[in-house]
Amino acid sequence: MSLLKKVYFDNAATTCVDERVREAMLPFYTDMFGNASSIHSYGTGVKVMLDKFRLGLSEKINARSDEIIFTSGGTESNNLALKGVAFSNMNKGNHIIISAIEHDSILNTCKWLETQGFYVSYLPVFESGIVDIEELQKLITPQTILVSIMHVNNEIGTIQPILEIGKICKKHDVYFHTDACQSFGKVPIDVISQNISLMSLNAHKIYGPKGVGGLYIKRGVKITPLLHGGGHEFGLRSTTENIPGIAGFCKAAEICINEFDEETKRMSALRNRLIDELQKNFEGIYFNGTFENRLPNNLNFAISGLEGETIRLLLMLDESGIAVSAGSACSNNDSSKSSSHVLQAIGRNQFESRGAIRVSPGRFTSEDDIDYFLEIFTDAIKKLNPIFSN
Ligand SMILES: Cc1ncc(COP(=O)(O)O)c(C=O)c1O
Repeated sequence: MSLLKKVYFDNAATTCVDERVREAMLPFYTDMFGNASSIHSYGTGVKVMLDKFRLGLSEKINARSDEIIFTSGGTESNNLALKGVAFSNMNKGNHIIISAIEHDSILNTCKWLETQGFYVSYLPVFESGIVDIEELQKLITPQTILVSIMHVNNEIGTIQPILEIGKICKKHDVYFHTDACQSFGKVPIDVISQNISLMSLNAHKIYGPKGVGGLYIKRGVKITPLLHGGGHEFGLRSTTENIPGIAGFCKAAEICINEFDEETKRMSALRNRLIDELQKNFEGIYFNGTFENRLPNNLNFAISGLEGETIRLLLMLDESGIAVSAGSACSNNDSSKSSSHVLQAIGRNQFESRGAIRVSPGRFTSEDDIDYFLEIFTDAIKKLNPIFSN
């Protein structure tokens, strides 16, 4: 019996749980299962650990521990940041600025806020996939209460200039929120020097469990909760804390930070090899987004003329055990939305915006996996377009 080789190249969508993370979570399902709010020793023991996890996470972004609240993930953190700030600051204004390439959890929250009397401006990006900073300066008005620009884009991996954005927001006395779900653990973050007021994080992109994340909220930021109840998480997110998830999230963050330099180097080398081979072998290949300010483990590309075959290509790769994604797989599989708003924003036409594939290797990717991908990808492209058989 031959076992199908499996190659997972969709780490931008989600990652598997690292064995070290799983180990760190296990005690909190059994021995230490108490409720952190209980006053008996089951609870107090867990509360000590919760405080320790909060402190550990805060130190990784140069925050204070009471500036971190744990949530169920990136979507919730983004919702709380945007709605919470919007409704708390209505006396100051009703204008919010986001970029045109945000994740759906920001875009759709803003669409909803527009129905509630808020006004949203969409900051354009250049062909490189980087936001237009000059335009940001022009968009800010006395009515602006919040600027929300993602740190790293989930489809094309481009890294936004959050230091400059933070400076502009500080100068205009406007809150700056950044969605760091794709960057945390992969790009250095310092909330103080980057002037970040709020920042969303999640665990499942960094080899942690799904369903857990965090929101950094700088001391003094005016924000109202979405969940009311027993007053957990400094009154900002009532519900009994998901301690196993939080333990896993914090362990995952610790591993990423400790292994940062080595992993960045390794990922960049793997990705650069992929770029070289693809460029060498496929005429008409084009890449989306700049290579300069980009995550080391993201590639987004298409082959001119084959854009209409992306889904077939993905299925052919899947038959050989290779998982890649078409555009963003962070949203549900709504086929009506298969055209990427991110690719449109960088100037791709409708056809091109449907035709890209995203390859995101990860911690467990080997050189062998790259070889296997190149072999299977080449075969698949030859089948789809015999021109490449020559
Ligand atoms: C940039 C970005 N923001 C937010 C999210 C949503 O996070 P979660 O799945 O934890 O709700 C994702 C993908 O999952 C993402 O890539």
